[in-house]
Amino acid sequence: MLGMNVPETIVITEVCPRDGFQNHKTPIPTDVKKEIIDDLCGLGFPRMEITSFVSPRAIPQMHDAPEIMRYFNEKWKGVVRGIALVPNIKGAENALEAGAKSLIFALSASEKHNMANTRRTVEGSLAELREICGLQGYEEIGIGIATSFTCPFAGDVPAEDVVRIIGASLDFGVAHITVADTMGTASPLQVEKTLTRIKKEFPGIDFALHFHDTYGFGLANVLTALRMGCDSFETSAASMGGCPFAPGATGNLATEDLVNMAEKMGIGTGIDLARLLTVSRGISEKLELKLSSHAVGACRNF
Ligand code: COA
Ligand code: ZN
Repeated sequence: MLGMNVPETIVITEVCPRDGFQNHKTPIPTDVKKEIIDDLCGLGFPRMEITSFVSPRAIPQMHDAPEIMRYFNEKWKGVVRGIALVPNIKGAENALEAGAKSLIFALSASEKHNMANTRRTVEGSLAELREICGLQGYEEIGIGIATSFTCPFAGDVPAEDVVRIIGASLDFGVAHITVADTMGTASPLQVEKTLTRIKKEFPGIDFALHFHDTYGFGLANVLTALRMGCDSFETSAASMGGCPFAPGATGNLATEDLVNMAEKMGIGTGIDLARLLTVSRGISEKLELKLSSHAVGACRNF
């Protein structure tokens, strides 16, 4: 029917409340975060990054992580899988204490970015991940491999560095792998090469792709991944997001752009585009953001 060999359905993890909020320039009041989380959860995403348990000195915007996590659990636990990002053992302990059941451990394929982002070597991060896997109380643990393709400080990142991290993490029992283009500068060719290498090394493992859209390659990279059979993507409503320790990177690929393209290709997402556009416009109004996603412009009279 499609004339193109792509999955019939995809899973979208919405990351606006974590990746999106962390890079917003002015402090977002906790109540506004809660409202946006409610709006997004009402759209039916199966998975959502809710917050991150990081140093408030590193990311002041995430200072209210315990309150946000508890609020989410009261209202949405069992409906949406709420994921908390953690960069170290302290973050994991704090997340579990606040009731988080799904953790995503952040580390970078690039040594230089890992140091800038978490002040650890990659080996140091992996050792901490192993310790976190031994903690009690979580249901699911994943890793988000930042700078899987390019690094703001070291340029192109060899696929081998990504493969090494995935291999170690699988040995520790990690269940979810996210391969992230933190900079938003990876080309479709680079994505194809790295994914080919990962699939060759670990046939049969599922992993999610997380593309930023700095160069406007986000959808091209999604299409590349779809044609390779990938069916899990992380995006942000209203194209918010970015790592404050990755200079030059802009927001995530917009969820509405992914849903729009998927819909036009007959790929199921479970998300209603018109309702999503309303929520994304609402986010832009609440946070005084200029909406940059393509779908919002093209579907103004939707
Ligand atoms: N949450 C809250 N506070 C934390 C923390 C966490 N996960 N980890 C460490 N801290 C605190 C310590 O308690 C200590 O506080 P004190 O100075 O008041 O005693 C201080 O931070 C320094 O601890 P240390 O272990 O030396 O951490 P660090 O200064 O090397 O910082 C990180 C390392 C990982 C905590 C910090 O770089 C960080 O939060 N990075 C995350 C960046 C991020 O979220 N990027 C975007 C998403 S990928
Ligand atoms: Zn990101």
